[in-house]
Amino acid sequence: HEIDATQHNADKGEFKHYMLKEIYEQPDAVARTIEMGIDKSETAKLRNDFLQRHETQLSGIRHVQVLACGTSYHSGLVAKYWFESLTRIPCSVEVASEFRYRNPVVVDNSLVICISQSGETADTLSALRDIQKHTPAGLVSLALCNVPTSSLVRETDIFLPTLAGPEIGVASTKAFTTQLAALMLLVMKVGVIQQRMTNDYVSTLIGELQLLPGQLHASLNLDTPIKTMSESFEDKRSCLFLGRGLQFPIALEGALKLKEISYIHAEGYAAGELKHGPLALVDKDMPIVVLAPKDSMFDKLKANMQEVHARHGELFVFASESSQMIAEDRLHVVYVPDVCETLAPIVYSVPVQLLSYHVAVMRGTDVDQPRNLAKSVTVE
Ligand code: AGP
Repeated sequence: HEIDATQHNADKGEFKHYMLKEIYEQPDAVARTIEMGIDKSETAKLRNDFLQRHETQLSGIRHVQVLACGTSYHSGLVAKYWFESLTRIPCSVEVASEFRYRNPVVVDNSLVICISQSGETADTLSALRDIQKHTPAGLVSLALCNVPTSSLVRETDIFLPTLAGPEIGVASTKAFTTQLAALMLLVMKVGVIQQRMTNDYVSTLIGELQLLPGQLHASLNLDTPIKTMSESFEDKRSCLFLGRGLQFPIALEGALKLKEISYIHAEGYAAGELKHGPLALVDKDMPIVVLAPKDSMFDKLKANMQEVHARHGELFVFASESSQMIAEDRLHVVYVPDVCETLAPIVYSVPVQLLSYHVAVMRGTDVDQPRNLAKSVTVE
């Protein structure tokens, strides 16, 4: 399962690395994925044929269990916020390698969503097989996957594709944002057929989803200021990523990207947890990346940023254009296009990908094939 990078060299086109190419493919990949559920000309409702064959199965589910690893686990964490806040269906998310060894409870009428770019991740497959062995009543399994011919797709009841196209870089980028787009479609589908979301809200969200490719495009235009920002990370040994609410999983994802390709130690934290430990790490040598869209958590997040600043931490903030955050000493700001709170995690994924990419290039690591890692982890 090792990928021979030379074999694909021709496909890199103008880009220096697959990772960068794949970051830039996101507006198109997300647009394709959204079109599975939304007709370009129909703004008010989901397409009739979207998951139509599975409506009966989906109408019976009362609980969602997400299983995944790494980046795919992070998209599951965003889905938890969406499922619970938009449909009030309880949703649990767990890394597959823990779930499969702890004798977990899977309640009746669960939808088990296995998220995987490759569909061959051993831990995710084994966790699914364990649940299937115990066959809880009303179990419905769904593969959210980028490879239609994969084992995961063969072994589940429902296949929801991410239309990202082949992802070669070991660091997952377009697979992640297309997972998020597809998960939002799924949340809406379940919300509609179980009458848990109003038609008005669904059509508002559809309108917002249609803006996404353009917003992703605009966030790619931040490449130059992000590259400049990345220079401050070149000689750093450790870094924190902070977010709250829907941005917390993106903080985790940003930290994973940075450590994976630049080999800088990085941790993602829910900003409210700072005072419960990580604040002790903050000093002038510790860069702190903050995901700060102007959302319902913004004022709380600002207070967290002040705590860091007062302790001489250096802040690198991705903030909304409308946030009115002003750069000052030890506070660097890159403005991200305004986007609705619900879909903001998709747009804010791009700046953290670009930051990790530029830091890694500067440090001269093998961006597409980082040491010790494989694209598809088919062993335990
Ligand atoms: C992401 O950048 C990583 N390479 C890794 O965490 C990956 O997401 C994980 O191994 C899961 O892979 P999958 O999506 O193919 O199951």
